[in-house]
Amino acid sequence: MFQAPKGTFDVLPPESARYEALVARFAGLAGRAGYGLLVSPMFEDVGVFQRVGESTDVVRKEMYDFEDKGGRRVALRPEGTASVVRAFLQHRPPTPFKSYYVAPHFRYEQPQAGRYRQHHQVGVEALGPADPDLDVEVITLAWELFRAVGLARIRLRLTSLGDDACRPAYRDALVAHLGARRDELCDEHRDRVEANPLRVLDCKRDPCRKAGADAPRMLDRLCDACAAHFDRVQAGLRAVGIGFDVDPSLVRGLDYYTRTTFEFEAEALESAQNGAGGGGRYDGLVESLGGPPTPGIGFGLGIERILLACDAEGVFPAPSGLLDVFVVDTAGGEAARDLTAELRRAGLRADRAWDGRSFKSQMRSALRSGARLAVVVEPEGVSVRTLQEKGEAEVVDRAEVADAVRRRLG
Ligand code: HAM
Repeated sequence: MFQAPKGTFDVLPPESARYEALVARFAGLAGRAGYGLLVSPMFEDVGVFQRVGESTDVVRKEMYDFEDKGGRRVALRPEGTASVVRAFLQHRPPTPFKSYYVAPHFRYEQPQAGRYRQHHQVGVEALGPADPDLDVEVITLAWELFRAVGLARIRLRLTSLGDDACRPAYRDALVAHLGARRDELCDEHRDRVEANPLRVLDCKRDPCRKAGADAPRMLDRLCDACAAHFDRVQAGLRAVGIGFDVDPSLVRGLDYYTRTTFEFEAEALESAQNGAGGGGRYDGLVESLGGPPTPGIGFGLGIERILLACDAEGVFPAPSGLLDVFVVDTAGGEAARDLTAELRRAGLRADRAWDGRSFKSQMRSALRSGARLAVVVEPEGVSVRTLQEKGEAEVVDRAEVADAVRRRLG
């Protein structure tokens, strides 16, 4: 028997209704803030992703890349930002260009709870403005989604990674600091100090932690413009009432970030997989993909992680009852066929039993369906009955079934 590939999963109804509800809330919030849906291919020329993360695990080790039948080297999207920037450059929409997406992402990782080879993100990207108030808008949008599903234990970690003016000097200082302690670093990072010194600071192993403990910090070396930007973002978050921790040790798994950078931690989850989402500014990314200087900022939130956090906090249960009404027909079946269609046309969520089963078996299906009401068609007439709780059967006129159902549903 075939199984879903390792690290992937199926989402069946009724659980999938939760997934749908989460996406609908996100789309509502994003739409109200002026973000439009962007749909882009699930795979891209491998170069699109290589440019944005040559020295990151996501691109170096975890990418699903392969040659297609035409000999093109392509990769399944490991992250969404590069795809959006590629689409922006191809179509050159006017800025500010604000888009949101809901999409599968693929990373060849060691699967465990909350870490999959195919996961799904909701995200936004806003291209054009360098305005720090846009950073506040973007962070607020993610925050509102957490609130909308009832999550209370989300911690926002925030930092600034500087820009072209201040980061190179910082990077040099960090490389010098870590280079002097190279022999003390873990096996994985000993040879990667020059390629990606920030990753060493993110390493959870003791040797790297020790070597990084007194390393220079970007936040202490921001240029005036970056410092002013970061101050304005913090003031904005305070003004909208979003709590945050400034965390100079925050390091993201992708290379393109500049200035404001953030992560949302679900404190109800195990620390290894508690990243519910993250994002930040990437003011140099459009240029690095061959476009004109265009600042940008966005985030991606893991749908599965959010739902796991909801389970852990006991909020946002699957919406109960996908159906309003279930038609049970022991009078020959035509009534079921016609009445079900009629109820659906009247805007009700209706289903029915099949294959001319016995009354008892049809009632069992009706109960299992989760519908609140049954419309029971017998040779003697039609009645409406409650299914999930006790109640009187109400005999109704065949022509008024939809009205009667609607009245009973309140
Ligand atoms: P990321 O932090 O790599 O950022 O991924 C965003 C979120 O996707 C994570 O915080 C996590 O919730 C979820 N996620 C990532 N990998 C997995 C996995 N293997 N299994 C389950 N969930 C996972 C990005 O991808 C950036 N593109 C975000 C961004 C948008 N930055 C700017 N704009």
